[in-house]
Amino acid sequence: MPPSDPPPDGPSETTPVASLFAFLSREVLSAVIALAGVYLSAKVIKRVMDPNSDERERLRQHREQVLERLYRTGVPRDALRCLGPSEETLLHDLVFPEDINSDFDAVGGLQGTKETLKELIVYPLLYPEVYAAGRGGAASSLLTPPKGILLFGPPGTGKTMLAKALAKESGANFLALSPSSLLSKWLGDTEQLARAVFSLARRVQPTIIFIDEIDGLFRERTSQEHEAHKNLKAEFMQLWDGLTTDDRFNQVVVLGATNRPYDVDPAILRRMPRPFEVSLPAVEERVEILRKVLHDVDVERPFDLQTVANVTAGYSGSDLKELCRAAMMHPVRESLRATAKSVGTGMVRRKAPPLRPLTLDDVLLARREVTRTQEQSADYQERVARESSGDASAASMDMTVKFLQMLATKTS
Ligand SMILES: Nc1ncnc2c1ncn2[C@@H]1O[C@H](COP(=O)(O)OP(=O)(O)OP(=O)(O)O)[C@@H](O)[C@H]1O
Ligand SMILES: [Mg+2]
Repeated sequence: MPPSDPPPDGPSETTPVASLFAFLSREVLSAVIALAGVYLSAKVIKRVMDPNSDERERLRQHREQVLERLYRTGVPRDALRCLGPSEETLLHDLVFPEDINSDFDAVGGLQGTKETLKELIVYPLLYPEVYAAGRGGAASSLLTPPKGILLFGPPGTGKTMLAKALAKESGANFLALSPSSLLSKWLGDTEQLARAVFSLARRVQPTIIFIDEIDGLFRERTSQEHEAHKNLKAEFMQLWDGLTTDDRFNQVVVLGATNRPYDVDPAILRRMPRPFEVSLPAVEERVEILRKVLHDVDVERPFDLQTVANVTAGYSGSDLKELCRAAMMHPVRESLRATAKSVGTGMVRRKAPPLRPLTLDDVLLARREVTRTQEQSADYQERVARESSGDASAASMDMTVKFLQMLATKTS
């Protein structure tokens, strides 16, 4: 191998400007690398020291979005100034009416209940000025919405759906307090969080404070009741009473729902003077619910909804939906089987054939797969009847009457 050329002797060709430039580039590069290192290590240290920082940032962004939306819906900026930490926590349970996807139209049956709830809640919240047309322009306290309403009835009859529809129809913000989310939050200062529920509700009114499964949160008092829970209940009731003290422009309603009304603390029940039973649907209501459940399903024509309704006595709205879901699996299974067969014979895999329309037989056959709520809710029927009077004639009584009797018996 020929020897490589020796390096050129003598002074380098680089000019002072070039070497200054090279020096600066090296320095800048190492400064950038050092800064990046500091930044990354700060992030790592922050994450180790505070593992919840990302979550907090996410919550902060969510809070900003919620506040921005509230301003846009007309809540004055002043009303939302200086929110307390508990109010901020509760912002996450606030649902805007436009984000609710069930309205009265989606609820099948319950015509009478829907009409009464419209008059009692929807119209006063939608048209406060009409209800304020009393003497001197101030609303008569008789015309303001009742401060507490209870929806009770067997499981799966549409109570939660109806509550959401109420918020949607009345354009009210919906503060949904679920026992699971609240009891965990309320492990801290319970009274403070109870106060925050009502103060936030007032700030963003009109508001429906919705307590689903209210029996879980406000169970009848027992000797083993935790002190914090007792305080929460007492504070909550006091604040609730505060709503009723002649505040004629108050637009906050507490709405409770339960399928175990007999387990709710009677003191809480007394604050909901308008109980509505959301009962199992009668035959004509079942036709209506089936029509709504199947509205976007390809069914054979004609499809005899009446026959299905006739053979589904004791089914709740939720059972009817499950029945239709189970029935829909028949055409789906057939389609999947056809595809699997073509693969099994070694043929080129075909696209699944389109689903055939749902038939009456599919639905009738599916009845074997779905248990009726009536069977599970025997406990509900029996407990309300027993606790209302213990009277044998109770069986034929209207449920709301039984309920009121039950309340009277418990509080006497
Ligand atoms: N009246 C109804 N009209 C239309 N769909 C209904 C009706 N009732 C129930 N459903 C269907 O059943 C589902 C469950 O209903 P929902 O959760 O409102 O019942 P619920 O009364 O609150 O039951 P639970 O007492 O168990 O809480 C609804 O999402 C809806 O799809
Ligand atoms: Mg419910």
